[in-house]
Amino acid sequence: MAKKWVYLFTEGNAQMRDLLGGKGAGVAEMTRAGLPVPPGFTITTEACNAYYASGRQFPEGLWEQVLEALKVIERETGKRFGDPTNPLLVSVRSGAKFSMPGMMDTVLNLGLNDETVKGLIAQTGNERFAYDAYRRFIQMFGKIVLGIDPERFERRLEEKKRQVGAQADTDLTAEHLRDLVEEFKRIVEEETGRPFPSDPYEQLRLAIQAVFNSWMNKRAVDYRNFHKIPHDLGTAVNVQAMVFGNMGWDSGTGVAFTRNPLTGEKELYGEYLPNAQGEDVVAGIRTPKPIAALKEDMPEVYEQFKRYAEMLERHYRDMQDLEFTIERGKLYMLQTRSGKRSAAAAVKIAVDMVHEG
Ligand SMILES: Nc1ncnc2c1ncn2[C@@H]1O[C@H](COP(=O)(O)OP(=O)(O)OP(=O)(O)O)[C@@H](O)[C@H]1O
Ligand SMILES: [Mg+2]
Repeated sequence: MAKKWVYLFTEGNAQMRDLLGGKGAGVAEMTRAGLPVPPGFTITTEACNAYYASGRQFPEGLWEQVLEALKVIERETGKRFGDPTNPLLVSVRSGAKFSMPGMMDTVLNLGLNDETVKGLIAQTGNERFAYDAYRRFIQMFGKIVLGIDPERFERRLEEKKRQVGAQADTDLTAEHLRDLVEEFKRIVEEETGRPFPSDPYEQLRLAIQAVFNSWMNKRAVDYRNFHKIPHDLGTAVNVQAMVFGNMGWDSGTGVAFTRNPLTGEKELYGEYLPNAQGEDVVAGIRTPKPIAALKEDMPEVYEQFKRYAEMLERHYRDMQDLEFTIERGKLYMLQTRSGKRSAAAAVKIAVDMVHEG
């Protein structure tokens, strides 16, 4: 029997950070606590180390276990990976034991190709959304997995906007985005000498490899040296069903601390961006709104999020840094970790938490 390399989110917990990484242990713990986390699984840090030990090869049994776990996600979501009528799309997220913010790689919307994009249109009735997801996927996969200079895609996107007189990305129509998909595929072919990999299983295999590889990229190595994090911990890889914050104005994505990280004040502190996918917040493409705006825009979602935030804080007995996405009015929790804070905030939070009991 091969070693167990893959854990469903339902099999993990907060104590398993060594094996599942911080992100994997966090999503597993939230899943156990009954919070709405899109289903998924974590490939262990041991698998990453085994990958390096064998000269960057998947260890025996890993791929088979990935396929098994993927079937479980298919059952839970009622969607199928690569299915042209009802496709499952996934994110492939890095996550080491210690948080290394933005140092390693994540690919969103994986599983899209010319066939499955039609299924995504059928699922959502939203052609614009589907082609936007597809062009983002090629862009991200091209950059992260295939190592193509992201400027090439960005320049083409800006050109397109200029050409059609679009102010923001959101002004581009389904047709514009469909054209961009074709143009992005051409960029990939020019840069790599091969067509864009359309087989979702090949996409998945390559993306997992890319996350393993990102453990040793220069940025990550420098970061670990600076923060004295050992190089032999390895990273876990989280594969998770996608939820979409860019399905319209009743959708959105955001990040928030459970307390103000500057002052320690007990208030939700963060930002959210309506009708957007996670990376938009980080990339600073559009200006996010303060989290308080969510209270106005979607009061019920805000209240629910606030409840989860309090629950997670109590659970971890520490201030948390959260990521969430709202898909058509439904809230999903995507990450929890202990939040970075100023020295002043650290003192106030510690004292307050003692008083709160
Ligand atoms: N299954 C998913 N559905 C929707 N959005 C997702 C999904 N997985 C990840 N995201 C979003 O994609 C973005 C990047 O993900 P991820 O958390 O893996 O990396 P990061 O936030 O850039 O870095 P870090 O490793 O420090 O968390 C985040 O905004 C996250 O919320
Ligand atoms: Mg994150």
